[in-house]
Amino acid sequence: MNRFTGKVALVTGSGRGIGRAIAIRLANEGANVIVNDLIDDENAAETVKLINATGSKGFFIQADISKVETLKHVIDQSVTQFGSLDILVNNAGVEVHAPFLEVTEKQYDLVLDVNLKGMFFLSQAFVKYLVENKRGGVIVNNSSVHEELPFPNFTAYCASKGGMQMVMRNLAVELAPFNVRVNNVAPGAIKTPINTKLLNKPELLASLQNNISLGKLGEPEDVAAVVAFLASDDAKYVTGSTYYVDGGLTFHYKEQ
Ligand SMILES: NC(=O)c1ccc[n+]([C@@H]2O[C@H](COP(=O)([O-])OP(=O)(O)OC[C@H]3O[C@@H](n4cnc5c(N)ncnc54)[C@H](O)[C@@H]3O)[C@@H](O)[C@H]2O)c1
Repeated sequence: MNRFTGKVALVTGSGRGIGRAIAIRLANEGANVIVNDLIDDENAAETVKLINATGSKGFFIQADISKVETLKHVIDQSVTQFGSLDILVNNAGVEVHAPFLEVTEKQYDLVLDVNLKGMFFLSQAFVKYLVENKRGGVIVNNSSVHEELPFPNFTAYCASKGGMQMVMRNLAVELAPFNVRVNNVAPGAIKTPINTKLLNKPELLASLQNNISLGKLGEPEDVAAVVAFLASDDAKYVTGSTYYVDGGLTFHYKEQ
């Protein structure tokens, strides 16, 4: 499939993990991809290298997407690099484990600033560019099953992902007249560095797998496939929706 020939995509937090898989998937289908992450390190370079190996082009922009004052520059730089911007994937995210009674203001601000404020104002900068240039576009947010499902000891994370759900629904309505579609992908438990602790605790892992209908964690590529669908014209009649990629985790129930 070459659904993105001639298209340009920006994927935040794509130095590793799910973001990297999304960047490579879009590139494999013909998109030139702007890779973004916090630091210009070997991870970022590796993502760009893997994109270039597909025959598409990759370019890295270092930026902290929680810093609103830099976001217009990220969009401008992306457009300058490849001549346009069609797809924004708000993927960058962080989580902090802390019981509710112990959450600090600093932890709360970090999670909300990256996961919610970052996607909010980067989307705003992207849509300003689209509207000024009379172009349509697509936004896909990497949310989580925790936009819906409680996650004890991760209340700030749930607040951010729940917020993403309502931002997405609102924007789908408000931006439809501008030919901009907005959807969320909601991963369950995916094998990435964000889950390193879990992956290293066999008992915890077994208990989690027992709560997933398909009985295993997902791969970053499983999420990337659904993001590619939502970003493509195959989803041209899809906006305002959350697509779960969770192996059946969210609506899992079985009698013991
Ligand atoms: N892995 C899972 O099980 C899972 C499940 C549900 C949702 N998600 C969501 O998927 C997204 C990606 O998660 P992942 O598992 O690949 O995590 P990860 O930690 O492997 O990768 C996240 C990337 O985002 C980057 N990042 C963090 N803060 C940033 C900032 N301020 N600006 C720019 N980049 C920043 C990190 O440097 C990192 O490269 C997150 O939004 C996460 O909440 C992951």
